[in-house]
Amino acid sequence: MTPVPVAVLVSGDGTNLQALLDALRDSAVARVVRVVASGAGAGALERARRAAVPTIALKDPADPAEIVTAVGDARLVVLAGYVKHIPPAAVARLRWRAINIHPALLPAFGGPGMYGHRVHAAVLASGAALSGATVHYVDEEYDRGPIIAQWPVPVRPDDTPDTLAARVLEVEHRLLPQVVVELARLGVPEKPVRLAAMGSAFVVADQPSVRFGDEA
Ligand code: GRF
Repeated sequence: MTPVPVAVLVSGDGTNLQALLDALRDSAVARVVRVVASGAGAGALERARRAAVPTIALKDPADPAEIVTAVGDARLVVLAGYVKHIPPAAVARLRWRAINIHPALLPAFGGPGMYGHRVHAAVLASGAALSGATVHYVDEEYDRGPIIAQWPVPVRPDDTPDTLAARVLEVEHRLLPQVVVELARLGVPEKPVRLAAMGSAFVVADQPSVRFGDEA
């Protein structure tokens, strides 16, 4: 089987990109073939260069044709810390082939302006006992496309936005590669899929016992 070609869209530091590069480096199922940044400054670009993956910095992230051209022949498009809105014409071209990771349990704590520390501050202010990571399809609205998979983490009484962000980021790095591998294994289905966790999602010694299958 030829690995499913994956394009990763980034804007920031790129730790999720790094998790994908590490997990898929020797995978027969999926491979990161290009990294597309919303601007030339993204630190993630350096990670891509180090992994010898071709990079593109968009001139105008609002131009749908530029995005579609940039992802090229990638079958799966992963938004990993990509903060720009994907224009509707590009969403239409990438329907059920573009996914995003969000650092909370959607549909709560998502939407326009809900990124970075604001998400975790809002979770803490709400008194929620759980937060987590969500991978979902990209549609025309921020953080609204159908959910593919989620991974919960506990919220602790003494958490700050920083400590909660770190706990969520750790599971993001595990969840995202697993979802990419599962979607690739399924042949990137033309209809939305929901990946159910095996076993219970209760937390034992801070390790959520959730598994989607074998790692890459
Ligand atoms: C992650 O928390 C992701 O969920 C959100 O943006 C952050 C990106 O971090 N969409 P990184 O650039 O992957 O380190």
